Amino acid sequence: MSEQTTLAQQFPAGFVWGVATSAYQIEGAANEGGRAASIWDTFSHTPGKILDDSNGDVACDHYHRYAEDVEHIANLGLDAYRFSVSWSRVQPDGRGAWNEEGMAFYARLISALAEKNISAHMTLYHWDLPQALQDDGGWLNRDTAYHFAQYAREMAARFGDQLASIATHNEPWCTANLGYGNGQFAPGVKDEVAALQVSHHLLLSHGLAIQAMRTQNKKAKLGIVLNQWTADPATDSAADHAAAAWEYARSVQWFMDPIFRGHYPALALAKIDQSRFIVLPGDMEVIHQALDFLGINYYFRAYVSTETPPRQPETKLGLTDMGWEIYPEGLSRLLIGIHQEYKDLGLPPIYITENGMAVADQLDGEQIHDTPRIDYMQRHFQEVAKAIEAGVNIKGFFYWSLLDNFEWNSGYLRRFGLIYVDYVSQRRIWKDSAIWFKGFVQRFRGRV
Ligand code: NOJ
Repeated sequence: MSEQTTLAQQFPAGFVWGVATSAYQIEGAANEGGRAASIWDTFSHTPGKILDDSNGDVACDHYHRYAEDVEHIANLGLDAYRFSVSWSRVQPDGRGAWNEEGMAFYARLISALAEKNISAHMTLYHWDLPQALQDDGGWLNRDTAYHFAQYAREMAARFGDQLASIATHNEPWCTANLGYGNGQFAPGVKDEVAALQVSHHLLLSHGLAIQAMRTQNKKAKLGIVLNQWTADPATDSAADHAAAAWEYARSVQWFMDPIFRGHYPALALAKIDQSRFIVLPGDMEVIHQALDFLGINYYFRAYVSTETPPRQPETKLGLTDMGWEIYPEGLSRLLIGIHQEYKDLGLPPIYITENGMAVADQLDGEQIHDTPRIDYMQRHFQEVAKAIEAGVNIKGFFYWSLLDNFEWNSGYLRRFGLIYVDYVSQRRIWKDSAIWFKGFVQRFRGRV
């Protein structure tokens, strides 16, 4: 029996295999169909913010080519597709009137998926806040959380019976810390203290949205997608251990504890600057809602060193084209750790909602030999299998991403796709990893 077959057989029957994307990264059609600007339009059009000075105006032109893209997912033999909604396409001002033309686009996409028996997993917020809400303070303004809940309720009411799941936020850690902390992402604010308040408003908006969507009684499972990592001390020194515990509290537990325990982690609270941190009575109860699933995005670990300059990990498997350490073991360690920490606190089934690798892919005739990506996928699948074996309830895996796309402040310079995009012609070309993934899922099915 081949190694692939053995690996494929380690996943339980019914395990979901899919791919993920997000609206701003692929849709394009930035000024079409009644869509208004989001903070990423503003940010990417600001000189100096994006590595290659690009933007998402056209991206993968998915708004016009969605049918072809769904066809690719079907040809890959996958069960599921995770995508996000551009809020300013369906509600241009982020409050008030709905844009029916924008809604119709998602209706078309969801029907196209249904026709191919691909389950649809919607994310409501993948970083593209309507600019109109930013003009009123964005996520620093508590009102944004209430606007978000109304948007969530509307999307659940319209689409909830045709969706397998709805996630409120994608990686709120990034929105808070990169959007407001170091300013590398839209809206580009550099204020670490403000970032804390933003993270609270994001969590509040999540709780309010879950409550609002529950009132609609739809089939879609409701949850959130968090980016997580293990925080490993670089040495055995007490200082490195303490710094690693702080890092874990400030990133993973900062979001997990409010959701599953109803309070922020004491270790983090004790150290943060609370001078502008406002939590109103009742907020924590709102955030502490039962969820149907937890989405985890995993790319790398935090390697925590207190030395100057900080110690670097050995990187036995090298770095991705993002410069991220390839550390598959972190995925099983993270999953097992999360399971142990939260299993008695209502931890729902887990989906790996993103995992993937940027490679400097080169066209070789009509082919792309992305062997490092295949190796990366295989190694991460092995770690997921290991976590399942250890008793973690993991229901599915979504590779990031279906297509090469707009990689935020790296523009089009980093390619994560299973499918190569020639941005001049918009031609899609399957990489070797796409062919490999298809074969892997076929082997998985062969036995069930
Ligand atoms: C996580 C984000 O959700 C996604 O938008 C991004 O492209 C990938 N990480 C890769 O950086």
